[in-house]
Amino acid sequence: MTMPTNCRYESKIKQSVNNSSQIKSRDRVAAHGEVFTAEREVKAMCDLVKDETERIDSRFLEPACGDGNFLAEILTRKLSVVEKQYAKSPSDYEKYSIQVITSLYGIDILQDNAQICRKRLFDIWQNEYDRICGKKLLAEQKEETQKTVQFILKRNILCGNALTLKEVDAHQNDTDRPIIFSEWSFVGNNIKRRDFAFNDLVNQEYMKEEGSLFSDLGDEAEIFSPLKEFPLIHYRRVYEQSE
Ligand SMILES: C[S@@+](CC[C@H](N)C(=O)[O-])C[C@H]1O[C@@H](n2cnc3c(N)ncnc32)[C@H](O)[C@@H]1O
Repeated sequence: MTMPTNCRYESKIKQSVNNSSQIKSRDRVAAHGEVFTAEREVKAMCDLVKDETERIDSRFLEPACGDGNFLAEILTRKLSVVEKQYAKSPSDYEKYSIQVITSLYGIDILQDNAQICRKRLFDIWQNEYDRICGKKLLAEQKEETQKTVQFILKRNILCGNALTLKEVDAHQNDTDRPIIFSEWSFVGNNIKRRDFAFNDLVNQEYMKEEGSLFSDLGDEAEIFSPLKEFPLIHYRRVYEQSE
């Protein structure tokens, strides 16, 4: 028996999607369009902005990040640049690897995705940190650094609605809380944190024109006031700040 052409086409797509774990369930695809991008496409798309993916301080936002396919690839690329430049000095590697973490932002409407994304990025960072800094740094220092990385990821990878720019509850309903992102800037070995409403960032004309997956928020964040500013703090002790 031959299948109608469109059925064959549909079944071929389903097969290829299922084979590479690009979907978790039909319900999630139907409700949230959750189809993950395959590694080959992620790499090819990142190659389109290769220089930016290899710049330690370039900022990336993935507004429907899922489990972080793009952010994971960018993190891996940036960490390999940090390794090439700073592996000989574990303290420098530590500092610049934290800077990389501060540069990555994500939003997903599903809480489990945001959580998986944070853990995935943390695991990539920690594996590299252990491999490169291993026994060369004091256990106490490493513990503080890990807490800081977890803290920054909690602030940078948020559960929210990227269309309404609101945080969401466990049922993906909008709350009345706006999505607030932190900008982290290094001043020597200290970090300056300033919190901005995502709404303000999106309303800028440049975002309307270049509202792509890879929008570098860069210096544009300077042109309007932060909701909150935090005092300078050593990069390793950022976790001491309130969320
Ligand atoms: C097509 S998947 C892409 C995931 C990831 N970017 C990738 O390429 O593998 C879309 C993701 O967007 C999330 N999503 C759907 N609507 C959203 C919204 N309004 N705001 C934020 N995330 C949303 C889904 O939960 C899902 O994880």
